[in-house]
Amino acid sequence: MTTKNYFSYLVTKIHSTVIATVEENGLPVTCAIDMMDYDENGLYFLTAKGKGFYDRLKKKGFISLTGMDGQDTMNSVAISVHGKVRERGTELLPRLFEKNPHMREIYPTQESMSALTVFQIFEGSGEWFDLSKKPIERENFTFGGAENMQKRYFINDNCTGCKLCYFHCPQKCITIMEKTTVIQQRHCLHCGNCFAVCPAGAVEKRGETL
Ligand SMILES: Cc1cc2nc3c(=O)[nH]c(=O)nc-3n(C[C@H](O)[C@H](O)[C@H](O)COP(=O)(O)O)c2cc1C
Repeated sequence: MTTKNYFSYLVTKIHSTVIATVEENGLPVTCAIDMMDYDENGLYFLTAKGKGFYDRLKKKGFISLTGMDGQDTMNSVAISVHGKVRERGTELLPRLFEKNPHMREIYPTQESMSALTVFQIFEGSGEWFDLSKKPIERENFTFGGAENMQKRYFINDNCTGCKLCYFHCPQKCITIMEKTTVIQQRHCLHCGNCFAVCPAGAVEKRGETL
């Protein structure tokens, strides 16, 4: 799927997400925030200028969010997004209200909307994690020119083909061929079992620019 597909899923299917910001004392705070719109330039949500959430957004200009869709753990997908936010003001408010008519129940009049302002998540990275698939599926995406540095496990040439990593892999997502052993990144939980058990030190954890 493309970044736009993930944004679409987040806005139309998941809609209500949990966003983490950071307090002045450096501690994390979460709150429920609806993702109200998206386009090729990012995700859009709104808040009121009087909220502590607004102050935290302005201070750091960075958020981390997760939204989930599904009835129970083994039938759920989660989308997480981490990125920079900027205030876009009131210009986009009519568009967001048009696409989210229930907002009229919370802010029924023009006067009551006066504290509202729109934020855009304009640069960042994200992850799709699908527990309903066997083996699990995960994908990473970026937007706004951000680099996605993912920590992943890789198997290097020191591999002797002993298969110990395969036996410890909960998702059986390691392919052992005659000359090479490869982790199927799309299905990897990043649990680290392969790293811990490899007797040849052939499993590395390293960042990879996606
Ligand atoms: C399902 C749900 C969706 C919400 N969506 C938003 C939203 O889009 N924007 C907003 O400002 N508050 C929204 N809220 C309310 C915030 O979660 C709430 O105001 C939160 O306490 C803000 O943090 P603060 O009190 O530290 O400012 C929502 C609450 C719920 C339960």
